[in-house]
Amino acid sequence: MKQSILIGLMAALFIVSSSFAEEITYSKHIKPIITEKCLKCHGSDAPEYKEFKLNKKKYISEQKGPRMDSYTHMVYFIGWPDTGAMMRRLDDGSSKDNGIPGNMYKNLGNTEEERQQNLSLFKEWIGIWSLNRWSAVSKDDLSSMKLTY
Ligand code: HEC
Repeated sequence: MKQSILIGLMAALFIVSSSFAEEITYSKHIKPIITEKCLKCHGSDAPEYKEFKLNKKKYISEQKGPRMDSYTHMVYFIGWPDTGAMMRRLDDGSSKDNGIPGNMYKNLGNTEEERQQNLSLFKEWIGIWSLNRWSAVSKDDLSSMKLTY
């Protein structure tokens, strides 16, 4: 009897604490990280992805990647058409078979602690950490993406 009361209490506590957990949004959490850590190379002066692809060498020599300075641009690299690119580039190696971090992981912070913190925010914001490309991603995975604005 005592045990079931305890379990009931714990369940209630869990429900209360999780419903109070703050939702991770683009506007409040992700945009500030991108502004601070990414826009010097992915800002409004950077090319659209298609333009980037056409003149990749030139842009890379100028330290410019494709433009990512809006919510809509970001979704392009997460959902479609460049499915999973954000996750593949930001992963710390733990979701990759070869264990090697994606080449943008280092930009997430100046210390390992900061990089891990920002990676967790990205993971929560996206809602599912699938590194699959469009050809391999499932519709379930796509539906599980939160990407709250
Ligand atoms: C010093 C410049 C620089 C910074 C800072 C930087 N990037 Fe990049 N990024 C690049 C360049 C150049 C490329 C294209 C070359 C490549 O594919 O590695 C790129 C490519 C990417 C791609 C792959 C796009 C594709 O082709 O599919 C993603 C995703 C990305 N960056 C995300 C980020 C995020 C998120 C941040 C901030 C945490 C960031 N980058 C910070 C220069 C930068």
